[in-house]
Amino acid sequence: HMACFFRRRIASKLSRCLGLPEDTFISALCAIPVSKKQQSPDFRLSVKALLSKGILPDNGDLEAQTKTLANQLQQDDVVEEIFAGRGVIHFRVSRIQLVQKVLEQSRKERDKFGMKSELLKGLKKGTTVVEFSSPNIAKKFHAGHLRSTIIGNFIANLKGSLGNNVIRMNYLGDWGMQFGLLAAGFQSFGCQEKLKMNPLQHLFDVYVQVNREAENDEAVEQAGREFFRQLEQHEQHAMALWRQFREITVSEYRKVYKRLGVHFDVYSGESFHQKQAQEVVLRLQTQGLLKTTEKGTGVVDLSPSGDMSNYSTLLRSDGTSLYITRDLAAAINRKEIHNFDEMIYVTDKSQGNHFQQLFQILLAMGHLWAERCQHVPFGLVQGMKTRLGEVVFLEDVLDEAQARMLRNMSQAKTTKEMDDPEDTAEKVGISALIIQDFKGPLVSDYKFDWDRILQAQGDTGVFLQYTHARLCSLIRLHGEEDTVNPSLLLDQRSVLIMQHLLRYDEVLYQSACDLQPKHLVNFLMTLSHLAASAHRHLPVKGSPQAVAQARLQLFSCVCTVLANGMRILGITPVEKM
Ligand code: ARG
Repeated sequence: HMACFFRRRIASKLSRCLGLPEDTFISALCAIPVSKKQQSPDFRLSVKALLSKGILPDNGDLEAQTKTLANQLQQDDVVEEIFAGRGVIHFRVSRIQLVQKVLEQSRKERDKFGMKSELLKGLKKGTTVVEFSSPNIAKKFHAGHLRSTIIGNFIANLKGSLGNNVIRMNYLGDWGMQFGLLAAGFQSFGCQEKLKMNPLQHLFDVYVQVNREAENDEAVEQAGREFFRQLEQHEQHAMALWRQFREITVSEYRKVYKRLGVHFDVYSGESFHQKQAQEVVLRLQTQGLLKTTEKGTGVVDLSPSGDMSNYSTLLRSDGTSLYITRDLAAAINRKEIHNFDEMIYVTDKSQGNHFQQLFQILLAMGHLWAERCQHVPFGLVQGMKTRLGEVVFLEDVLDEAQARMLRNMSQAKTTKEMDDPEDTAEKVGISALIIQDFKGPLVSDYKFDWDRILQAQGDTGVFLQYTHARLCSLIRLHGEEDTVNPSLLLDQRSVLIMQHLLRYDEVLYQSACDLQPKHLVNFLMTLSHLAASAHRHLPVKGSPQAVAQARLQLFSCVCTVLANGMRILGITPVEKM
């Protein structure tokens, strides 16, 4: 990565001057974010951080120490300027070198742009299970499941692009008491015809109705319980009906996930681990971790002082398993099958406690790998509605995004030349959803507003796609040359773009560390704004051949990075809109 080239260069100066290995300084050197006020330096070294880590001896006067060090460092034809700021040293690299290195890299690496950076190579690699989406059969696919789906997809994409072996897993809610109720409901007022015509809708309707009836009618509740008991005993007729529900639902889900551009390697589910759940309970008993309460339930005490101030119920009094019991079995089973190095669960933050308990029990059982399991929590989305009302099915959200986007595009004067407007509208509509969702910290709640997320200007997915498509059409129109003269790209706008691109690897690094997409989103938004401004001010048409070629090369480089970044976010870049 070109940023690494410059970092190495600066680190070697520091190494020579201070007599410490180069690597000491690599991670302390950061590319400076571009802002309007400050365009000059490119990298920053925090002397303060070096002192606090004990890498340099602290003589008590940070400012003086920073100045002295800055003065000792020699400039050269790559690192042209070195000067002290408050507790930091700034480095400015040669503009020609900067432009040349960035262009060179974008030509050579294309879809791998930035991925070969030392910084990213230093990240641990291995097998990562990412469990996400995980809707419940017959229940609503609510905004939370949509969030889990796009966030999990992003994490899986990112981990994959960084060289991990990723297993994308969907853990369906396909077991439990609610399933008994659903089946009981289906037996009394379900309809095979309707089930085939519109499976998700029909199962949902049955589920809603049976729940309503169960509230007033003890017998219905009882029938549900009985059916679930038969399921847990694997009685044939019960299993057959259950299997049919599951298969139909999964094949419907697959279609919708496809529209979203999401796929899974494994469709697992709670049902897979029902038997193992009983084995886990036995093991906990032999390990002396499971207690039977007066009510006959089986619990694990998780309180530090053994006073049951924090405990988890694993067994009902009728001997059936619970959500967490199946999760325990599932985790152990996944470790056996995939021997993962890490496992990531993506759900809303209300399940935070559930996962804490899950990991804690696994550790208590001696499964030390639970240390490398992690829950990525996200906040609530308020007010996600479609013209049909509250969101019930994922499909409705996608339809709504597409319809609204199609309308916006037909009204805009700027949109043109699309091969397939419907498909484009869907992709752009989905980008809008994703960008809105990924902008802030995942754990924050937000209010959903179609009009705002679909705006053509500002930090929206629509603007991102639009910028990318503009650049694509420019390149389609004019073609591009292989090598260009970098000295034709020394204007301020081009240099800002190059400076910004220096941060790409750091941004991916940050996202890989905290699994938050906002770093990458903000980076891409800034890149789009810089590119849009450059596109307005640096014409290709009408410029001398060599200048036009150089600019095309710049735009092509931006276009590549935008597309790569979007793909990691789970957005399909459109080339015409
Ligand atoms: N099906 C659950 C729900 O909709 C989410 C499952 C999360 N994953 C897990 N291993 N518990 O709330």
